[in-house]
Amino acid sequence: MRFDIKDKALASKGKARILWADRNMPVLRAIRDRFEKEKPLKGVRVAACLHVTTETANLMRTLKAGGAQVALCASNPLSTQDDAAASLVEDWGVETFAIKGEDHDTYYKHLNAAADIKPHITMDDGADLVSLIHSSRKEALKTVVAGTEETTTGVIRLRSMAKDGVLGYPIIAVNDAMTKHFFDNRYGTGQSTLDGVIRATNMLIAGSTVVVAGYGWCGKGVSMRAKGLGAHVIVTEVDPVRAIEAVMDGFDVMPMAEAAPKGDLFITVTGDKHVIRKEHFLAMKEGAVVCNSGHFNVELQLEGGLYEICKARATVKDMVEEFLLPNGRRIYVLADGRLVNLACAEGHPAMVMDMSFANQALSAEWILAHKDELGKTVHVIPEEIDRDIAKIKLETMGCSMDELTEEQKAYLASWQEGT
Ligand code: ADE
Repeated sequence: MRFDIKDKALASKGKARILWADRNMPVLRAIRDRFEKEKPLKGVRVAACLHVTTETANLMRTLKAGGAQVALCASNPLSTQDDAAASLVEDWGVETFAIKGEDHDTYYKHLNAAADIKPHITMDDGADLVSLIHSSRKEALKTVVAGTEETTTGVIRLRSMAKDGVLGYPIIAVNDAMTKHFFDNRYGTGQSTLDGVIRATNMLIAGSTVVVAGYGWCGKGVSMRAKGLGAHVIVTEVDPVRAIEAVMDGFDVMPMAEAAPKGDLFITVTGDKHVIRKEHFLAMKEGAVVCNSGHFNVELQLEGGLYEICKARATVKDMVEEFLLPNGRRIYVLADGRLVNLACAEGHPAMVMDMSFANQALSAEWILAHKDELGKTVHVIPEEIDRDIAKIKLETMGCSMDELTEEQKAYLASWQEGT
């Protein structure tokens, strides 16, 4: 079996943590039990480029239970949980290529190793595997039937490819499922981002000023949780509608240039590049902490920005780098500007990844059933699947809800009844 991981000896710790996560993934577990019996993915090769975490391990177990052969690589050089990777290899026979802290070349070597499986289905978090297959590994296009994409950033990239007519196979935008982005992006990113900041710095959030760049689903979640911990929250936005939303949710909204001297903690979640630039770093207070929770490490202008203007830099503790600015102030960047929630904490909790990965597993099954009808574009997961996931999740949470009466259904379908 092929693999490249840090240390197989970490497997027993990884297995215990994977099973712990599984306790909070009842929807995925129900799918796995069904897959075990029905084998809908029999003979299917899946190449997955996802954050290698305990939750992802449970998705890999589910795909294997469905009969798939799986190769997994990391979708970020800093997000791998080495114990989960070891257990995937040792306990579940999943070809895994991921080492926390891997350099750029190793990251791409691992992507290539996943592509070597000659996939029928690709699963991406950020579209790096799709990009590879459309550039240096074009031969893989011959076998791929379709792919899935987990994240907003990846979906944006893939929609651009489809718009330019260069997307070589259909993609299911798992991110766009309601049971994904309403929960994973908002509550998952909200909690795990603050968790990452706190684990890395142990700073007190109460009474601090937290600047959140971006008020999409992730920004909403981060702002909400920072407020809940007692912070004064400032939001920066470029979209006027989102900016109003942030104001009406009770936050101050202003440009980054105004927010820069006010913040104690800066968190970017925009999906765009250079949101915090040289001039913003130079305006920050002594001791400001800066991090990113958007998919790529481009939101902070580090190369060509902070790295150039600083007078000195030093790692002061794990994942915390100090920069001495020309004005004598010191600021701190977490995890090299990479996803702080996965690099400094454990990513989103299993409870929320349950729905995201239920969407991934069911999308794989759906792709196979509909492969002949899918055009080479980005597709949204069918609403029935999305709603089924929500229903099962609700049941597993011990909640029930009302049902429409026949009279109510008729009323909603009619237009004659009025004032
Ligand atoms: N993305 C964010 N959190 C994650 C997690 N726990 N596992 C996999 N992907 C993630």
